[in-house]
Amino acid sequence: MKTTVICFTNNKGGSGKSTVCANLGYELASSGKRVLLLDGDMQMNLTLSYFSEEETISMAQSGKTLYEAICDKADLADFIVSTRYGGLDLVPSSSLMSQVEFRLFTMMQREFVLANCLLGIKEKGAYDYILIDAPPTLGNWVINILAASDYCVMPVEASPWGLFGLANMFDFLDSVSGFCPVSLLGVLITKVDERKKYYRQTCDVLSQYSDIPVFKTVIHVDSAVEWAEDNSIPVSVFKKSARSAVEFAQLSKEIIKYNNKEVSHGSRKKQYGKSIKKDGDDRKNR
Ligand SMILES: Nc1ncnc2c1ncn2[C@@H]1O[C@H](COP(=O)(O)OP(=O)(O)OP(=O)(O)O)[C@@H](O)[C@H]1O
Ligand SMILES: [Mg+2]
Repeated sequence: MKTTVICFTNNKGGSGKSTVCANLGYELASSGKRVLLLDGDMQMNLTLSYFSEEETISMAQSGKTLYEAICDKADLADFIVSTRYGGLDLVPSSSLMSQVEFRLFTMMQREFVLANCLLGIKEKGAYDYILIDAPPTLGNWVINILAASDYCVMPVEASPWGLFGLANMFDFLDSVSGFCPVSLLGVLITKVDERKKYYRQTCDVLSQYSDIPVFKTVIHVDSAVEWAEDNSIPVSVFKKSARSAVEFAQLSKEIIKYNNKEVSHGSRKKQYGKSIKKDGDDRKNR
Protein backbone atom coordinates (compact mmCIF):
# COMPACT_ATOMS: atom_id res chain seq x y z
CA MET A 1 0.00 0.00 0.00
CA LYS A 2 1.40 3.37 -1.01
CA THR A 3 1.98 5.97 1.66
CA THR A 4 0.75 9.44 0.68
CA VAL A 5 2.69 12.28 2.28
CA ILE A 6 0.89 15.62 2.62
CA CYS A 7 2.35 18.76 4.15
CA PHE A 8 0.59 21.90 5.36
CA THR A 9 2.48 25.03 4.40
CA ASN A 10 1.98 28.75 4.19
CA ASN A 11 4.56 31.29 5.22
CA LYS A 12 1.71 33.42 6.58
CA GLY A 13 1.47 32.70 10.29
CA GLY A 14 -1.79 31.68 11.92
CA SER A 15 -3.49 30.52 8.72
CA GLY A 16 -4.64 27.27 10.33
CA LYS A 17 -1.88 24.83 9.29
CA SER A 18 -1.52 23.06 12.65
CA THR A 19 -5.27 23.01 13.34
CA VAL A 20 -6.08 21.50 9.96
CA CYS A 21 -3.19 19.01 10.11
CA ALA A 22 -4.22 17.79 13.58
CA ASN A 23 -7.93 17.44 12.86
CA LEU A 24 -7.54 16.02 9.38
CA GLY A 25 -5.23 13.39 10.89
CA TYR A 26 -7.91 12.40 13.37
CA GLU A 27 -10.63 12.24 10.70
CA LEU A 28 -8.48 10.11 8.38
CA ALA A 29 -7.71 7.73 11.25
CA SER A 30 -11.43 7.58 12.13
CA SER A 31 -12.08 6.44 8.56
CA GLY A 32 -9.77 3.47 9.14
CA LYS A 33 -6.64 5.00 7.61
CA ARG A 34 -3.30 4.57 9.36
CA VAL A 35 -1.91 8.03 9.94
CA LEU A 36 1.42 9.41 11.11
CA LEU A 37 1.67 13.09 12.07
CA LEU A 38 5.05 14.87 11.93
CA ASP A 39 5.41 18.06 13.95
CA GLY A 40 7.87 20.18 12.01
CA ASP A 41 7.42 23.40 13.96
CA MET A 42 9.31 24.62 17.04
CA GLN A 43 5.98 25.97 18.37
CA MET A 44 4.97 22.31 18.95
CA ASN A 45 1.32 23.08 18.18
CA LEU A 46 0.70 19.75 16.48
CA THR A 47 2.15 17.88 19.46
CA LEU A 48 0.05 20.02 21.82
CA SER A 49 -3.04 19.09 19.82
CA TYR A 50 -2.72 15.54 21.19
CA PHE A 51 -0.69 15.85 24.37
CA SER A 52 -0.86 18.09 27.43
CA GLU A 53 1.79 20.76 27.97
CA GLU A 54 3.51 18.54 30.57
CA GLU A 55 3.55 15.55 28.22
CA THR A 56 4.78 17.72 25.33
CA ILE A 57 7.63 19.19 27.41
CA SER A 58 8.59 15.77 28.68
CA MET A 59 8.71 14.37 25.12
CA ALA A 60 10.70 17.42 23.98
CA GLN A 61 13.26 16.70 26.72
CA SER A 62 13.46 12.99 25.90
CA GLY A 63 15.80 13.54 22.97
CA LYS A 64 13.39 11.59 20.76
CA THR A 65 11.90 14.33 18.61
CA LEU A 66 11.96 15.19 14.93
CA TYR A 67 14.88 17.54 15.61
CA GLU A 68 17.17 14.76 16.86
CA ALA A 69 16.06 12.47 14.02
CA ILE A 70 17.08 15.14 11.49
CA CYS A 71 20.42 15.85 13.22
CA ASP A 72 21.24 12.12 13.35
CA LYS A 73 19.75 11.40 9.90
CA ALA A 74 17.94 8.57 11.71
CA ASP A 75 15.05 6.30 10.72
CA LEU A 76 11.92 8.10 11.93
CA ALA A 77 10.40 4.77 13.01
CA ASP A 78 12.42 5.09 16.24
CA PHE A 79 10.83 8.45 17.09
CA ILE A 80 7.13 7.57 16.84
CA VAL A 81 4.76 7.89 19.80
CA SER A 82 1.18 6.61 19.87
CA THR A 83 -1.68 9.01 20.52
CA ARG A 84 -4.78 8.03 22.52
CA TYR A 85 -6.49 7.24 19.24
CA GLY A 86 -6.13 4.03 17.25
CA GLY A 87 -4.28 4.31 13.94
CA LEU A 88 -2.94 7.76 14.78
CA ASP A 89 0.74 8.20 15.69
CA LEU A 90 2.99 11.22 15.99
CA VAL A 91 6.61 12.27 15.86
CA PRO A 92 6.81 15.17 18.35
CA SER A 93 8.68 18.44 18.03
CA SER A 94 10.72 20.48 20.47
CA SER A 95 11.86 24.09 20.74
CA LEU A 96 15.26 22.90 19.49
CA MET A 97 13.64 22.90 16.06
CA SER A 98 14.57 26.60 16.01
CA GLN A 99 18.14 25.40 15.29
CA VAL A 100 17.26 23.06 12.45
CA GLU A 101 18.19 25.52 9.66
CA PHE A 102 21.65 25.92 11.17
CA ARG A 103 22.11 22.15 11.57
CA LEU A 104 21.01 21.42 8.01
CA PHE A 105 23.43 23.96 6.61
CA THR A 106 26.48 21.72 6.90
CA MET A 107 24.77 18.48 5.79
CA MET A 108 25.27 16.84 2.41
CA GLN A 109 22.14 16.70 0.27
CA ARG A 110 20.54 19.00 2.80
CA GLU A 111 17.22 19.32 0.93
CA PHE A 112 16.52 15.61 1.30
CA VAL A 113 17.35 14.84 4.92
CA LEU A 114 13.70 14.47 6.00
CA ALA A 115 12.80 12.52 2.85
CA ASN A 116 15.62 10.06 3.66
CA CYS A 117 14.51 9.75 7.31
CA LEU A 118 11.07 8.68 6.02
CA LEU A 119 12.31 6.03 3.56
CA GLY A 120 12.16 3.11 6.02
CA ILE A 121 8.61 3.91 7.17
CA LYS A 122 7.40 4.30 3.60
CA GLU A 123 9.05 1.05 2.50
CA LYS A 124 7.30 -0.84 5.29
CA GLY A 125 3.96 0.65 4.18
CA ALA A 126 2.98 1.07 7.82
CA TYR A 127 0.92 4.22 7.15
CA ASP A 128 -1.62 5.27 4.54
CA TYR A 129 -0.99 8.95 5.20
CA ILE A 130 1.86 10.94 6.67
CA LEU A 131 0.84 14.53 7.48
CA ILE A 132 3.55 17.13 8.12
CA ASP A 133 2.90 20.44 9.88
CA ALA A 134 5.32 23.10 8.58
CA PRO A 135 6.38 26.30 10.34
CA PRO A 136 5.44 29.73 8.91
CA THR A 137 8.81 30.21 7.21
CA LEU A 138 10.41 29.72 3.79
CA GLY A 139 13.81 28.20 4.35
CA ASN A 140 15.76 25.02 3.89
CA TRP A 141 13.69 23.19 6.50
CA VAL A 142 10.47 23.91 4.64
CA ILE A 143 12.24 22.80 1.43
CA ASN A 144 12.96 19.50 3.27
CA ILE A 145 9.28 19.21 4.20
CA LEU A 146 8.14 19.86 0.62
CA ALA A 147 10.79 17.51 -0.79
CA ALA A 148 9.51 14.72 1.48
CA SER A 149 5.88 15.27 0.41
CA ASP A 150 3.71 14.13 -2.46
CA TYR A 151 1.27 16.97 -1.93
CA CYS A 152 1.04 20.31 -0.24
CA VAL A 153 -2.13 21.80 1.27
CA MET A 154 -2.06 25.59 1.68
CA PRO A 155 -4.46 26.83 4.35
CA VAL A 156 -5.42 30.47 3.73
CA GLU A 157 -7.31 32.52 6.27
CA ALA A 158 -10.37 34.41 4.99
CA SER A 159 -9.05 37.73 6.27
CA PRO A 160 -7.83 41.04 4.83
CA TRP A 161 -4.20 39.85 4.64
CA GLY A 162 -4.90 36.15 4.18
CA LEU A 163 -3.87 36.13 0.52
CA PHE A 164 -1.07 38.64 0.86
CA GLY A 165 2.25 36.96 0.17
CA LEU A 166 0.65 33.82 -1.26
CA ALA A 167 2.42 34.49 -4.56
CA ASN A 168 5.74 34.09 -2.71
CA MET A 169 4.55 30.74 -1.43
CA PHE A 170 3.61 29.63 -4.96
CA ASP A 171 7.00 30.74 -6.32
CA PHE A 172 8.72 28.84 -3.53
CA LEU A 173 6.68 25.70 -4.21
CA ASP A 174 7.36 26.06 -7.90
CA SER A 175 11.12 26.20 -7.34
CA VAL A 176 11.06 23.11 -5.08
CA SER A 177 8.83 21.11 -7.44
CA GLY A 178 11.59 21.50 -10.03
CA PHE A 179 13.68 18.88 -8.21
CA CYS A 180 11.09 16.84 -6.29
CA PRO A 181 7.61 15.52 -7.03
CA VAL A 182 5.54 17.67 -4.66
CA SER A 183 2.44 19.25 -6.14
CA LEU A 184 -0.25 21.54 -4.80
CA LEU A 185 -3.26 19.53 -3.62
CA GLY A 186 -5.21 22.68 -2.96
CA VAL A 187 -5.69 25.96 -1.19
CA LEU A 188 -7.95 25.50 1.81
CA ILE A 189 -9.93 28.53 2.99
CA THR A 190 -10.00 28.61 6.79
CA LYS A 191 -11.51 30.66 9.64
CA VAL A 192 -14.44 31.70 7.48
CA ASP A 193 -16.87 34.12 9.11
CA GLU A 194 -19.88 34.63 6.83
CA ARG A 195 -20.80 37.86 8.62
CA LYS A 196 -17.69 39.49 7.21
CA LYS A 197 -16.91 40.23 3.57
CA TYR A 198 -13.51 38.50 3.54
CA TYR A 199 -14.68 35.01 2.61
CA ARG A 200 -16.36 36.31 -0.57
CA GLN A 201 -13.33 38.51 -1.24
CA THR A 202 -10.95 35.55 -0.86
CA CYS A 203 -13.08 33.34 -3.17
CA ASP A 204 -13.31 36.11 -5.77
CA VAL A 205 -9.56 36.60 -5.89
CA LEU A 206 -8.80 32.85 -6.01
CA SER A 207 -11.39 32.28 -8.76
CA GLN A 208 -9.42 34.61 -11.04
CA TYR A 209 -6.63 32.00 -11.21
CA SER A 210 -7.83 28.87 -12.95
CA ASP A 211 -4.53 27.12 -12.22
CA ILE A 212 -4.96 27.31 -8.46
CA PRO A 213 -6.89 24.30 -7.13
CA VAL A 214 -9.18 25.22 -4.25
CA PHE A 215 -10.83 22.69 -1.91
CA LYS A 216 -14.62 22.56 -2.05
CA THR A 217 -14.60 22.25 1.75
CA VAL A 218 -14.00 25.42 3.74
CA ILE A 219 -13.40 25.60 7.49
CA HIS A 220 -15.54 28.11 9.37
CA VAL A 221 -14.39 29.97 12.44
CA ASP A 222 -15.64 27.90 15.37
CA SER A 223 -15.06 28.33 19.08
CA ALA A 224 -15.00 24.51 19.39
CA VAL A 225 -11.55 24.61 17.75
CA GLU A 226 -10.04 26.64 20.57
CA TRP A 227 -11.78 24.60 23.24
CA ALA A 228 -10.53 21.35 21.72
CA GLU A 229 -6.97 22.71 21.39
CA ASP A 230 -7.00 23.91 24.97
CA ASN A 231 -7.81 20.33 26.02
CA SER A 232 -5.44 18.62 23.55
CA ILE A 233 -8.22 16.75 21.81
CA PRO A 234 -9.53 16.79 18.22
CA VAL A 235 -12.66 18.89 17.65
CA SER A 236 -14.66 15.75 16.75
CA VAL A 237 -13.91 14.22 20.14
CA PHE A 238 -15.05 17.39 21.88
CA LYS A 239 -18.24 17.65 19.82
CA LYS A 240 -18.83 15.55 16.73
CA SER A 241 -21.61 17.85 15.55
CA ALA A 242 -19.52 21.04 15.83
CA ARG A 243 -19.45 22.88 12.52
CA SER A 244 -15.67 22.65 12.11
CA ALA A 245 -15.68 18.94 13.08
CA VAL A 246 -18.15 18.22 10.28
CA GLU A 247 -15.99 20.26 7.90
CA PHE A 248 -12.77 18.44 8.87
CA ALA A 249 -14.58 15.14 8.20
CA GLN A 250 -15.72 16.48 4.81
CA LEU A 251 -12.16 17.54 4.02
CA SER A 252 -10.86 14.05 4.82
CA LYS A 253 -13.43 12.55 2.42
CA GLU A 254 -12.43 15.03 -0.28
CA ILE A 255 -8.77 14.09 0.13
CA ILE A 256 -9.38 10.31 0.29
CA LYS A 257 -11.52 10.51 -2.86
CA TYR A 258 -8.90 12.49 -4.71
CA ASN A 259 -6.06 10.24 -3.56
CA ASN A 260 -7.91 7.05 -4.52
CA LYS A 261 -8.50 8.51 -7.98
CA GLU A 262 -4.81 9.33 -8.33
CA VAL A 263 -3.72 5.86 -7.20
CA SER A 264 -6.17 4.01 -9.47
CA HIS A 265 -5.09 6.12 -12.47
CA GLY A 266 -1.44 5.36 -11.80
CA SER A 267 1.04 8.13 -11.24
CA ARG A 268 -0.41 11.35 -12.58
CA LYS A 269 1.88 13.60 -10.65
CA LYS A 270 1.72 17.19 -11.73
CA GLN A 271 4.18 19.80 -10.72
CA TYR A 272 2.98 23.21 -9.83
CA GLY A 273 3.89 25.67 -12.55
CA LYS A 274 3.52 25.10 -16.27
CA SER A 275 1.82 21.69 -16.10
CA ILE A 276 -0.68 22.73 -13.44
CA LYS A 277 -1.90 25.45 -15.79
CA LYS A 278 -2.84 22.70 -18.25
CA ASP A 279 -4.45 20.52 -15.61
CA GLY A 280 -5.75 23.20 -13.32
CA ASP A 281 -9.40 22.89 -14.37
CA ASP A 282 -9.32 19.14 -13.92
CA ARG A 283 -8.03 19.60 -10.39
CA LYS A 284 -10.59 22.23 -9.60
CA ASN A 285 -13.40 19.87 -10.58
CA ARG A 286 -12.15 16.77 -8.81
N1 LIG B 1 -11.58 27.18 12.37
C1 LIG B 1 -11.10 27.89 13.41
N2 LIG B 1 -11.94 28.51 14.27
C2 LIG B 1 -11.47 29.21 15.32
N3 LIG B 1 -10.16 29.37 15.59
C3 LIG B 1 -9.28 28.78 14.78
C4 LIG B 1 -9.68 28.01 13.65
N4 LIG B 1 -8.58 27.54 13.04
C5 LIG B 1 -7.54 27.99 13.74
N5 LIG B 1 -7.94 28.74 14.79
C6 LIG B 1 -7.10 29.43 15.77
O1 LIG B 1 -6.23 30.30 15.07
C7 LIG B 1 -4.94 30.27 15.62
C8 LIG B 1 -3.93 29.88 14.55
O2 LIG B 1 -4.22 28.57 14.10
P1 LIG B 1 -3.05 27.55 13.80
O3 LIG B 1 -2.10 27.51 14.94
O4 LIG B 1 -3.65 26.30 13.35
O5 LIG B 1 -2.36 28.30 12.57
P2 LIG B 1 -0.91 27.99 11.96
O6 LIG B 1 -0.97 28.35 10.52
O7 LIG B 1 -0.49 26.64 12.30
O8 LIG B 1 -0.02 29.05 12.75
P3 LIG B 1 1.59 29.15 12.66
O9 LIG B 1 1.86 29.80 11.35
O10 LIG B 1 1.95 30.02 13.83
O11 LIG B 1 2.13 27.77 12.75
C9 LIG B 1 -4.98 29.28 16.78
O12 LIG B 1 -5.12 30.02 17.97
C10 LIG B 1 -6.23 28.46 16.55
O13 LIG B 1 -6.84 28.11 17.74
MG1 LIG C 1 1.30 26.01 13.22
